[in-house]
Amino acid sequence: MNDVENRTLKLGVIGLGRAFSLMLPTFAGDSRISLVAAADTREAARRRFAADFSGKAYATAGELCADPHVEVVYVATPHQFHAQQAVLAARQGKHLLIEKPLALTLDDCAAIVAAARTAGVHLVVGHSHSFDAPVQRLRALVQSGAFGAVRMINAINYTDYLSRPRRPEELDTAKGGGAVYNQAAHQVDVVRFIAGEQVTGVRAMTGAWDKARPTEGAYAALLTFSGGAFASLSYNGFGHFDSDEWQNWVGELGQQKPPQGTPRQRFASAAEETAFKNARNYGGDNYKQAAAPVAHNHFGTVLVSCDRADLRAMPNGVMIYENGSGRLDALPPPAVPRSEVIDELYRAVVFGEKPLHDGAWAMGTMNVIIAMLRSARESRDVAI
Ligand SMILES: NC(=O)c1ccc[n+]([C@@H]2O[C@H](COP(=O)([O-])OP(=O)(O)OC[C@H]3O[C@@H](n4cnc5c(N)ncnc54)[C@H](O)[C@@H]3O)[C@@H](O)[C@H]2O)c1
Repeated sequence: MNDVENRTLKLGVIGLGRAFSLMLPTFAGDSRISLVAAADTREAARRRFAADFSGKAYATAGELCADPHVEVVYVATPHQFHAQQAVLAARQGKHLLIEKPLALTLDDCAAIVAAARTAGVHLVVGHSHSFDAPVQRLRALVQSGAFGAVRMINAINYTDYLSRPRRPEELDTAKGGGAVYNQAAHQVDVVRFIAGEQVTGVRAMTGAWDKARPTEGAYAALLTFSGGAFASLSYNGFGHFDSDEWQNWVGELGQQKPPQGTPRQRFASAAEETAFKNARNYGGDNYKQAAAPVAHNHFGTVLVSCDRADLRAMPNGVMIYENGSGRLDALPPPAVPRSEVIDELYRAVVFGEKPLHDGAWAMGTMNVIIAMLRSARESRDVAI
């Protein structure tokens, strides 16, 4: 290997919460990444980061962005901070990995994209489940042309999204809460990635059925694409049925999980719920590391109908149904989960390759998410 191939990206993290803890096995397991610094408003998280990685731990994003050792900033704070922190980092010449959704408004998304372009830094948006190896394999199978054109995609997921402990703004759609802002980013990314066409129209309905948690917990949406394909998305986060049952109890993170749900916790106040969430986050008293994966990450059922076959993304590969029988195009379990995110980031920063999940891509997904909310609110088709 030459020096370029041996290069390690020095990563600084803003926001040591749940998103960070889900990416931590990737950062810790992938030799292309070195965790050198972090910023968080929680002191307990900073203390733990300094102890775990001998890295610098700052109280503010500004201090982290000014750290000359940091090459790439991973923005993993709540959505409302993404734009301001990403622009700050770009102005300091840092490459960017930003959690989904890119930002809350298209104007904020555009400000991030413009700041990255002006500074000449790369921008990758993720993790979203369109990075998952089975989804990438499925896309490659479609693009091979072996099965004909994509005609229809069904994406279905039932989880406990809304019943898990949440910050107050996660329960307020106006502040970026709810299943559409938070979970549709995955399904929209996945179907756009596989269809390989522009979304031209959206019709959606949403469900906010829990008065105590007054934001969308469920949605259904029909997306049309420029080449004539269409996709149906269904999501229910109320936590009664768990569609991981259809994945042989392999969970979203590729972990083997027990075949049962988690009873919902009740909290006396929003402050108590936030404190409970933080205690389970990195640095908190009840923090637990993610279980080692037995298969790839997934986001529920993804079933793609082409002219001559149906293709289904599975945690261990892609099932191909054609000519009256099914076969598995198998993928070995991941050595490092979510390493596909680092593949894209590394190829961009080290080799200058344009990422698939760049700012323009993420704005496209945000455009669909905003259209879904509008379609549901106004009970009509929304053209994109
Ligand atoms: N890709 C995924 O699988 C995934 C999973 C969870 C969350 N996310 C995304 O990650 C982002 C964060 O969500 P989360 O669930 O991790 O939230 P969280 O509440 O679990 O964590 C947020 C962290 O940011 C810190 N923080 C808050 N404000 C800050 C500030 N101004 N400066 C520095 N630190 C600050 C908090 O102390 C906390 O540690 C969201 O955009 C969310 O959509 C992505």
